[in-house]
Amino acid sequence: MSKNLSPWGNTVDVEFEDQIAFVYFNRPDKKNCMSPTLNREMYATLHALELDDRCGVVVLTGRGPAWSAGMDLKEYFRETDNESDTFKMRIREECAAWQQLKLRNYAKPTIAMVNGWVFGGAFTPLTSCDLAIASDDATFGLSEINWGILPGGNVTKAVADTMGMRNALYYIMTGETFKGKQAAAMGLVNESVPANKLKARVVELAKVLLLKDPVVLRSAKEVFKRVRYLDWDTSNDYIYAKGDGSQYRSGGQFRHGAMKAFLDDKKIKPGLDTYDKDTGGKAKLKKAPVKSKGKKAVAKKGKSGSKGSK
Ligand code: COA
Repeated sequence: MSKNLSPWGNTVDVEFEDQIAFVYFNRPDKKNCMSPTLNREMYATLHALELDDRCGVVVLTGRGPAWSAGMDLKEYFRETDNESDTFKMRIREECAAWQQLKLRNYAKPTIAMVNGWVFGGAFTPLTSCDLAIASDDATFGLSEINWGILPGGNVTKAVADTMGMRNALYYIMTGETFKGKQAAAMGLVNESVPANKLKARVVELAKVLLLKDPVVLRSAKEVFKRVRYLDWDTSNDYIYAKGDGSQYRSGGQFRHGAMKAFLDDKKIKPGLDTYDKDTGGKAKLKKAPVKSKGKKAVAKKGKSGSKGSK
């Protein structure tokens, strides 16, 4: 299988930083609303990053003041209104392909870094990310009712699964907006932090995830997503099968090494520490390089840092 290292086009951009791939909705002049072109480019980007060694964690975020203002009312809706049914279904399929199928089942951990506006259709990729950290000043809204449609593209399902019945129905029915802290209180995002701490908090979280056995981490999140819909007996069986499968695929060194480090070498306490397979001891979080004041961070070219081409 070939590795196409930079398929992102004009509407999606990628920057690499210490094994973190920052994937940007890149239509700031249109508040990063999602057009059919963006949907296709986002799929291609995420697909490629699954095999890209520079990416251990995907952070999905937006250029400019928006995370994403939802589906593009012009290009996704109005311009396709008079197209054939098959054409319209194809456009929906391409949207679901990345927002739901690809992102919900993503091979690597995903974090939504919510930097600004989140409207309508953007709730689906938001909840498809494994984790989400918002800026306190991010504004969220299920605006569909304000312009006469119901929250499709599985937005209704996305909020039913994350926000709870009262909150979901309140915002579906009123179209009112809410801020980052309210999103965190409702469980739509994990945390909300001041805007100037958003990236640092996301990087810190990503670095925790990068320390884990990637194969087991993938299985752990897959299992979580499936067991919600299984009965107890099937779930128990499925979790063991997936657990055994993940040890087989990972080679099991992380698990064996960690047990040795705890039981024999007394170097880690798994309740408190993550095992580091390189040292055989406790993993230490690498400190972010100190950047000189006022200087914008520039991603380096090469294995561990490269600016995405356009
Ligand atoms: N679809 C199409 N175009 C959109 C868009 C969307 N979802 N959201 C923003 N844009 C476009 C605007 O039409 C405008 O284009 P123009 O410069 O060619 O006129 C541009 O992005 C900037 O938006 P603007 O409305 O001028 O910015 P603002 O800062 O005043 O308001 C929003 C920002 C997000 C509050 C406002 O753009 C908005 O309400 N967008 C729609 C959000 C929505 O309901 N999404 C649900 C879709 S399912």
